[in-house]
Amino acid sequence: MAATFSSRLGFILSSAGSAIGLGCIWKFPYMAAQNGGSAFFMVYLLLAMTLGLALMSVEMALGRASGSGVAGAFLKLGGPRWRWLGRLPMITAFIIMGFYCVVGGWSLAYLFKSLIGQVVSNDAGVLAERFSALIANPWQAVAWHAGFLGLSAWIVLGGVQQGIEKMSRWLMPALFILMLVLIVRGVTLPGAMAGVEFLLVPDFSKLGFDTVLAAMGLAFFSLSLGMGAMVTYGAYLDVGSDLPASAGWVVVLTLVACLLGGLLVIPPAFAMGLDPQSGPGLTFISMPAIFAHMPAGALFAALFFALLLVAALTSSVSLLEVCARFAMDEFGMSRRRAVLGFSVGMFLIGIPAALSFGPWKDATLFGRNAFDLMDYATSNVMLPISGIATAILAGWFCWRTVESQMRQREGTRRTLLAVGRVIVAMVAPVAIGVILVRGV
Ligand code: PFF
Repeated sequence: MAATFSSRLGFILSSAGSAIGLGCIWKFPYMAAQNGGSAFFMVYLLLAMTLGLALMSVEMALGRASGSGVAGAFLKLGGPRWRWLGRLPMITAFIIMGFYCVVGGWSLAYLFKSLIGQVVSNDAGVLAERFSALIANPWQAVAWHAGFLGLSAWIVLGGVQQGIEKMSRWLMPALFILMLVLIVRGVTLPGAMAGVEFLLVPDFSKLGFDTVLAAMGLAFFSLSLGMGAMVTYGAYLDVGSDLPASAGWVVVLTLVACLLGGLLVIPPAFAMGLDPQSGPGLTFISMPAIFAHMPAGALFAALFFALLLVAALTSSVSLLEVCARFAMDEFGMSRRRAVLGFSVGMFLIGIPAALSFGPWKDATLFGRNAFDLMDYATSNVMLPISGIATAILAGWFCWRTVESQMRQREGTRRTLLAVGRVIVAMVAPVAIGVILVRGV
């Protein structure tokens, strides 16, 4: 496999591109609002800095050591008994892509609508109504889903360096800058400070088991852990670059992006009197309120949704790459066939998710519609199981290999590695296991 990232920076930015996406800007704000605001943020922060960082370093190490995608890595490093556990992350990525493309499609739709001047309004009722109209319309929901998926497939067809790396390198920094500008406008709206307080001032009375379960699900989702994305990207990384440090950068950048996402979306919701707990529509309903209070609001709206789209694309391409890489490794398929084949599958599995807010709203299983069920089952069940499997494989079955990957820079940091091993081999499986079992 000749393709590699062209530099360590390119690798970090691409991995951060995978991590930073709709998770930070769409999912984090409404989940924080529903799960106790600041309490949720703190638990999320803690989990990301400990288990998240350890698992991310390990995933990258497994990828680089094996030079394969996630299923291949489990098989090569663990042996045949790990075959199916190595496929689980890939299956998870496939399901996530189904609903991820639906939300990506909403972003694409909002970009289009902002270009034709149909997004900005200062009336909370109008904003909520427009959003509902979009997601409830089956044709639109499915068509935008297909459009977003098509864009992802087009990029992945270009291969890692040409497609994924180039896009991340320029557009991720632009996203951060624009978010900062919009935050300044949002938090200075009258009444918005209550939202900042809600997000940042600790309120421990809100801390409950559900908070921890939700935070863990989001930590996996937002850091792209447990579905082989970091393994797959690690496989494209050349020897010599420092893994734990790269993983540290990715985690910190993601945390900052989530914090910015929260500060971006929640304060204007408070200013407008919107219910911040309203769920998945929050970002799309609350953001246009900021634009209504800015000069050239329509322009900023278009810019914002363009960058949201890019953030979503740099993530969706990693999900598609995980699956495509599997078919290329396992069945010797060409990139083209692998990408096209999986895209068709992802389109089909996304249809029930796309219809979950319209005609199939009342079709529920375990009390959840298809969209929620796919989200819940992946984030709260499948990702944690993959996380435990990854930790056990690395901590108990091939630590030597993992360690040598981590220590390519001359014998330093022995204590850090020892601590890392304890986290990976003992703390991660037990902690994730307890949360998982109690949650289910
Ligand atoms: N981390 C991405 C986000 O937060 O939007 C979503 C994601 C991408 C999850 C890639 C998993 C993955 F492998």
